[in-house]
Amino acid sequence: MGDWSLQSPSSPVDSEKFSPWPEFPGRKEGSTMAVSKSSADSQKASTTIRRATQADAEASGKICFDAFGTLNARHGFPTDFPGPEAPIGLLTWMFSHPSFFCVVAERGGKIIGSNCLDERTPIAGVGPVTVDPGVQNGRVGRQLMDAVIARSAERNVAGIRLVQTAFHNRSLALYAKLGFAIREPLACLEGPPLQKILPGYQVRPATPEDVATCNDLCRRIHGHERGGELADGIAQGIAVVAERGGVIKAYGSGVGFFHHAVGEETSDLIALISAAEEFAGPGFLVPMRNSELLRWCLGNGLRVRQMMTLMTMGLYNEPAGAYLPSVLY
Ligand SMILES: CC(C)(COP(=O)(O)OP(=O)(O)OC[C@H]1O[C@@H](n2cnc3c(N)ncnc32)[C@H](O)[C@@H]1OP(=O)(O)O)[C@@H](O)C(=O)NCCC(=O)NCCS
Repeated sequence: MGDWSLQSPSSPVDSEKFSPWPEFPGRKEGSTMAVSKSSADSQKASTTIRRATQADAEASGKICFDAFGTLNARHGFPTDFPGPEAPIGLLTWMFSHPSFFCVVAERGGKIIGSNCLDERTPIAGVGPVTVDPGVQNGRVGRQLMDAVIARSAERNVAGIRLVQTAFHNRSLALYAKLGFAIREPLACLEGPPLQKILPGYQVRPATPEDVATCNDLCRRIHGHERGGELADGIAQGIAVVAERGGVIKAYGSGVGFFHHAVGEETSDLIALISAAEEFAGPGFLVPMRNSELLRWCLGNGLRVRQMMTLMTMGLYNEPAGAYLPSVLY
């Protein structure tokens, strides 16, 4: 786990308090979070939320594929995953990662949904939360969200965040009702990688020796580090740094949907994006209020795939520099 102490950011802090934590009916009992049996809500009562195991990844991955596929098709958007193998692989990795807390919802011995909490960094990231399309809008998603919020409360994390699919009214309503605040409109940009090195920059793979410098850069911009994600990106060989005059000006745990990046200035982030060999997953996320970056992306042939929304609960600092969030936050 990373350093859990938070450093003051250089921008004003929104110190909206994370506590008192809401009480949730489905709090942990041993390794199983038994849901309260209310006669008024039999659907909810018949659902069990429990810790996910690697053996649950296949069923959960198929649900994830179907849930996003059905949702996107209904709204005329392309699918997020090329096939069920991608979410099955992703959830296999998350369910077995020691720094992820993942849960599944079960009814009648059958998995009907799952959710994950990324605990690699001081701010926890939520998702993907997905429910079998056949039982959606029946409070299963709420219980899966309650479970990760309760876990965050138990661990006293400073804040939790997620990225919401902007066209999905239901998830927006659910997260807002649970207490998440809307922070940033995002555009998911897709297109062929530009593979250009901008004058004055050197872009190279990040190494374990870069982590302290990158963490410092992230703290200056966000008020906290994301070293756990960076370490995973380095181990996977996809993390990059952009240097100018031998100084790291931007880094990314990768460049794509599942990775975050931070730059001192927008131009530093542009150098990092320009050099990327690929944009992993269905594009990368650009905070739309960064007009300079959005316009640069569009001017370089990238296209908007969909819009998304960064939502947060607990500590949040207005970023003091340029950044790309991951699909977790
Ligand atoms: C998003 C998802 C996980 C939510 O799970 P769910 O079981 O369908 O949702 P729930 O029934 O638990 O919660 C929906 C809540 O939103 C409310 N709601 C739904 N549509 C609404 C609308 N248009 N306006 C206001 N409220 C709305 C419901 O009343 C419910 O609130 P309640 O619990 O207070 O009654 C699920 O729908 C899903 O898998 N969707 C596809 C994948 C996806 O989008 N995942 C999230 C990525 S950000």
